[in-house]
Amino acid sequence: MKFDSILQAVILDLILGLVLIFILNLRFVRPLQELQQSSEKIAAGHLDQSINIHRKDELGALADNLVIMRDAVKEKVESLQFEVNQHQKTKNYIDNIINSMPSALFSLDRESNIVLWNYKAEKLYGIKSSQAVSKPLDKVIPKMKPFMDNISKTIQTGDPYYFPKQVTVTSQGLVYEDITAYPLIADNIEGAVIRVDDITEHVRMEEMVVQSEKMLSIGGLAAGMAHEINNPLAGMMQNAQVVLSRIQGEIPASVEAAEAVGITMDQIRAFMETRGIVRQLELIHEAGVRASQIVQNMLSFSRKDFSGKVRQDISILLDQTIELAQSDYDLKKRYDFKKIKIIREYHPDTPQVLCEVSKIQQVFFNILKNSAEAMQEFQSLKDPVFFLRVKQKKDLVCIEIEDNGPGMTEDTRKRIFEPFFTTKPVGKGTGLGLSVSYFIITDNHNGEINIVSEPGKGAKFIIHLPIV
Ligand SMILES: Nc1ncnc2c1ncn2[C@@H]1O[C@H](COP(=O)(O)OP(=O)(O)O)[C@@H](O)[C@H]1O
Ligand SMILES: [Mg+2]
Repeated sequence: MKFDSILQAVILDLILGLVLIFILNLRFVRPLQELQQSSEKIAAGHLDQSINIHRKDELGALADNLVIMRDAVKEKVESLQFEVNQHQKTKNYIDNIINSMPSALFSLDRESNIVLWNYKAEKLYGIKSSQAVSKPLDKVIPKMKPFMDNISKTIQTGDPYYFPKQVTVTSQGLVYEDITAYPLIADNIEGAVIRVDDITEHVRMEEMVVQSEKMLSIGGLAAGMAHEINNPLAGMMQNAQVVLSRIQGEIPASVEAAEAVGITMDQIRAFMETRGIVRQLELIHEAGVRASQIVQNMLSFSRKDFSGKVRQDISILLDQTIELAQSDYDLKKRYDFKKIKIIREYHPDTPQVLCEVSKIQQVFFNILKNSAEAMQEFQSLKDPVFFLRVKQKKDLVCIEIEDNGPGMTEDTRKRIFEPFFTTKPVGKGTGLGLSVSYFIITDNHNGEINIVSEPGKGAKFIIHLPIV
């Protein structure tokens, strides 16, 4: 009996214990586990994690606090994200501005290491930003070395520096740059911003303006002089011609005059021949012809309107001029034009140009003749070559005549179109060939003529003629 009641009590206790455990589990352990899992997920960044515990006791308060905390964190994260986005946008905007600048821009830190390198700098120097950043400027662009001292001064003193019109020799010819160093002082970051502007085109235009003004004044002067010389020269030549014909021919008036002084025309002629007077007169005439050719060239400086313009294939003109030069006796005396190899690059669909044929031929001839002369003088040149190119460029026809001769210095290059500029000895060069060519192309044909040349690297004449 006693045992039974004990057993009963134990079983009852057991059942009661189990029920208690069950209730405890349901009421506290599960919600606690749920709360723990939720908080872990929130901690891992899942800020949309829901917490479904709604109770009035401490556990409920804990759950509510967790919800408040989750929402506060969520709000903070969102606002931070917004700010980050905003910063990114601003950064992109500034990057865009810096990269769309027409100037190459790069910034340096105190030690002159590159911090920023814009798109134009990538293009100008052919160096990617990733290859430039963090490296010293003079290692990335060695030609900046001479400016490094002044750039350091800019960083230290805050005074900007300006290095105008810096010249570099590149495979495409001379390149001119303006370089400016500005101090950079912001939020204790010290350094400098360097701006590099490519002013090559600007310098070329400037040179062209100076050139055309110079040409205009010298050309006008020369043309005026030519007019003045023309008449007396014609008189001299005519008179020499008259003297010759009075001696050489049997003109009745001459025969009569000879008879009147008691000699014959044959005696006079014999005397003149013996004393070389006829030869002297012929020399006067020859010199006169040369002088009048020069005067004719000079006169063309002022001649603006040419009537005889026709449509013409430039490549045909160029070939005709080559043929002309190859058969020119005067040229042949000095060098054999046929020795020069000719490489033609004529673009087949190049339109015809409205031009005065003989004048354009004269230009080609002057250029070819100069080049042949220059190549002849260039002792080390074994295989002289002409490159002839004709192609269309928008509404212009572009003609290039290039040689592989000695080229020229910058000083010569700047002056070759000047009337009377020559580097040849007296009697050999008049310095008129290229100036006449210049006037024919620019004044008479509204075109352009330019020269690209460096010592030892040949000369390239580039002519642009409008198609219409
Ligand atoms: N192809 C060339 N290569 C080198 N120098 C040249 C070339 N063409 C022209 N020159 C230079 O330009 C100068 C002027 O040429 P130009 O006006 O024809 O006069 P000239 O031939 O009478 O000297 C020449 O004296 C020469 O120094
Ligand atoms: Mg010449």
